[in-house]
Amino acid sequence: MSGPMPSNSRNIFLETFGCQMNVLDSELVASQLSALGMHFVDDWKQADVVLYNTCSVREHAEQKVYSRVGRVGKHKAHNPHVVLGVIGCMAEREGRDVARRYPQIDLLCGPGELDKLPMLIDNALKTSPHRRASLSTKQVALQGNTHRRTGTLAATEDHLEMLDLSRSFSPDEHHGSAYVRITRGCNKFCTFCVVPNTRGPEVHRPPDHIVDECKRLVDAGVVEVTLIGQTVNHYHYHHGAAVTVGGVQQPQVGQVIRAPQPLADSHTTPQDATSFAQLLARIHDDVPDLPRLRFVTSYPRDFGDDILAVMRDRPRICRYLHLPVQSGSNRILKLMNRGYTVEKYFDLLGRVREALPDAQIASDLICGFPAETDDDHAATIDLLHRALFKNCFIFKYSPRPGTAAYTRFEDDVPEETKRQRNNELLTVQSEMSDRVHRAMVGRQVRVLVESISHREHKHRSAAATGFATGVPEANVELRWEPARTVTQLTGRTDGDLIVMFDGDESLVGSIVNVKVESAKPLSLFGQIAQTPTPV
Ligand code: SAH
Ligand code: F3S
Repeated sequence: MSGPMPSNSRNIFLETFGCQMNVLDSELVASQLSALGMHFVDDWKQADVVLYNTCSVREHAEQKVYSRVGRVGKHKAHNPHVVLGVIGCMAEREGRDVARRYPQIDLLCGPGELDKLPMLIDNALKTSPHRRASLSTKQVALQGNTHRRTGTLAATEDHLEMLDLSRSFSPDEHHGSAYVRITRGCNKFCTFCVVPNTRGPEVHRPPDHIVDECKRLVDAGVVEVTLIGQTVNHYHYHHGAAVTVGGVQQPQVGQVIRAPQPLADSHTTPQDATSFAQLLARIHDDVPDLPRLRFVTSYPRDFGDDILAVMRDRPRICRYLHLPVQSGSNRILKLMNRGYTVEKYFDLLGRVREALPDAQIASDLICGFPAETDDDHAATIDLLHRALFKNCFIFKYSPRPGTAAYTRFEDDVPEETKRQRNNELLTVQSEMSDRVHRAMVGRQVRVLVESISHREHKHRSAAATGFATGVPEANVELRWEPARTVTQLTGRTDGDLIVMFDGDESLVGSIVNVKVESAKPLSLFGQIAQTPTPV
């Protein structure tokens, strides 16, 4: 990776908020900064550089960051050398204004400019604390209003691709699961969502880069790859139009799809293009040592049967889909600009369950969207009863500046109503999750062991000594043996159900068979099975 070297080794603290995309961005940023000799610390107070990788999807996520920024501001009063950086979506959404309001912020870097971060940090470290207080010397890399680029600009070098390509493949960092980006940005413009503004237009990475990254991760010890994108099923790479700069194939800007399209399938994908179904098949077939391949997030529109056929025929592709529905009311879906109806959504669920009877489906819902009535809410409750999601993330609508809903609609559902609807939806979903999880009791599942459970428990075994049979009162002494620690492990099935069971710590990172013995709404409990029977 080119770029300036920080003047000397510095301690750096990086905290990540929000989605998988941010988790991956943080990993890439961290590997780049480590390569430049920076040392990561767990305690922000020990750091010379404090970075927050932020999320703007809901106001609540931003408030958490403001409170961190306030805390670091106080710390900087006594430690003025500390550099504070806000990176990610909040930096992009707020722009320079946030550094005006919070002068303790020295550096702002949007999610589309992260390749510039080492340079920004280096510049900030070289600028005296006194000078850094002035707005003109802040280190800023944002895409601003120019970032919804046109297709012609795709012909220039995409520096962000270099950030993905610079990923480190050290076995120390990679075991268990890893994310691989296939698409950046989003072209959907759901009226509530800030992502198309903060992450820019949909850009698809070249399939060769994606396959190569998966191979190298597997060589480094990865057992599960999750492909990520805001709407992964819209992945499309047109080889005929591929551009190479400096020997590196460049990502491509996707189409802006504003009206519903016919379902894409391999018959309609031009011969010189790679569709999402083809990409999945290629990764599965070209990386035979990868035990698990999954992907998030799928958009409920344009999800073709070709994708389902590829999943059905390739057992190492996980039977799991995250299909955010957002509302059970057609009227609200329209106001959200989602481009599908409840009927179309159920048509998709039917196709998924027919092709993949074991598939688990998760979803997202927003309650209290502008103008949502009791009837709309009742329709969402009805949808939850019928959809049988294994889980569903339920959010109260949060108006986001810069979105169409913020400009066009009044946030007219009172907070108390939003809270009530949120609780009702959570209760119904909990019943449905319970049903989905209970249906697994008695079955054997394959579990990728992820970690030691937080609820690791201790067994004390009691041994009776001097017990005289027939003389119950006499000499009965219970001797407690030293505490024996039984480790509870936690992992996930390929349908993404959480499973807890006792086992040895050394199993973390491997796939084991577990017999499911009981269930709660959000997890299964079982024992390691002796006879491996794949499910
Ligand atoms: N395509 C991405 C969406 C990212 S936002 C994905 O599906 O992962 C993740 C979720 O946050 C959305 O599905 C939506 O349910 C929720 N969300 C987005 N904007 C919101 C807002 N303004 N208020 C409340 N929830 C929101
Ligand atoms: Fe947001 Fe809709 Fe894209 S929820 S990320 S605009 S698919």
